[in-house]
Amino acid sequence: MSDTLDEMHAVALVLNGAPVAAQVDARTHLGDFIRHTLGKTGTHIGCEHGVCGACNVMVDGRSVRSCLMLAVQADGCRVDTVEGLTASGAIADLQEEFVRRNALQCGYCTPGMLATAAEMLRGPKLSREAIRDGLSGNYCRCTGYQAIVDAIEAVMLRRAETAS
Ligand code: FES
Ligand code: FES
Repeated sequence: MSDTLDEMHAVALVLNGAPVAAQVDARTHLGDFIRHTLGKTGTHIGCEHGVCGACNVMVDGRSVRSCLMLAVQADGCRVDTVEGLTASGAIADLQEEFVRRNALQCGYCTPGMLATAAEMLRGPKLSREAIRDGLSGNYCRCTGYQAIVDAIEAVMLRRAETAS
């Protein structure tokens, strides 16, 4: 059994718009693969059992807990981390709003919060309550959430106004 888990597997995916390929053992989760093999340390690892949301990244456009997905399961997928979301400018307005409203303190939860928010911002305009609900899988030990919800709500309203 352990021989199978230790066996190396080829994984090829598109990370932040660029193709990458590497060998990985079957038990490595996507978060560790992104950080330790691919060297993108913007993704943070907290609980490692799907509770805190610190590890959230985008996989094929959906926010995913990278500690609950094996790296081999991401073969053939498009993965976007906070580095890619930043470089593309896709969440520049959200990041500005986070800074403006002090929606981060230690910043440990922030990459995961941004990934979750990025997915929310792709959908229809949400009520404040629905934004809170959408963030319920992301823990923040510093901010009390208010400023984070404020920032997402402000960007959501602004984007909706721009689109109409
Ligand atoms: Fe993945 Fe906490 S590290 S949910
Ligand atoms: Fe510190 Fe959220 S800013 S955990």
